[in-house]
Amino acid sequence: MTIISPSILSADFMNLGRDLEKFKKESDIWIHLDVMDGHYVPNLTFGAPVLRNIKSYTSHPLDAHLMVENPQDYIEPLKKIGVHNFTFHWEVVTHHDSFISDLKKSFKSVGVSINPGTNIKNIPEYIFEKIDLVLVMSVNPGFGGQSFIESSIDKIEYLHNLKTEKGLNLEIQVDGGVSNKNAKKLVDAGATNLVAGSFIFSEESGDYSKRINQLRE
Ligand code: DX5
Ligand code: ZN
Repeated sequence: MTIISPSILSADFMNLGRDLEKFKKESDIWIHLDVMDGHYVPNLTFGAPVLRNIKSYTSHPLDAHLMVENPQDYIEPLKKIGVHNFTFHWEVVTHHDSFISDLKKSFKSVGVSINPGTNIKNIPEYIFEKIDLVLVMSVNPGFGGQSFIESSIDKIEYLHNLKTEKGLNLEIQVDGGVSNKNAKKLVDAGATNLVAGSFIFSEESGDYSKRINQLRE
């Protein structure tokens, strides 16, 4: 089953607990947490104290997407909280190999995120053997509600082929502009994990399960 990762960036921050409760009965859900520092991206969101509270509200795996200049500063606090997946941006790290090894000691799942402007072929193939997840950014990081960048499909296909060829156990996650209009195309291309913010939380009735089903259909 395709994992759906609601991005709480589009949730009602004043009623975050209530919004999180709505995913309780769903299965194959990760809670996607966009940590932004106001430096790597112009937006500023939340850090460890908020994540700690979120952890006590949900039993779904926490999926931290670090859009920060210094992801290494988040290892200890997020490990303590029990975050399931830690994704850093390929573009901000210099010593990728050793950073991944450090993260593997603290998290069950380690992910690498790739911006729309980053050539996926610049990432050595052996990196994909070391990580658990690759996040294909299908918008430029920083904000919810942007339009999907079509060329992301080529990256998903490239990763899917690599995964098949090498027999990798790799989660292929897509983040940005995901909706019922492109979900099938993304899954057909090889995506196994869809992040969706505005599509899920814009459901006026508040019945987010409806939107999750639409993504899976
Ligand atoms: C953007 C974030 C996304 C964002 C997606 O920088 O990484 O997770 O919340 O929002 P939508 O689904 O609205 O494009
Ligand atoms: Zn994200």
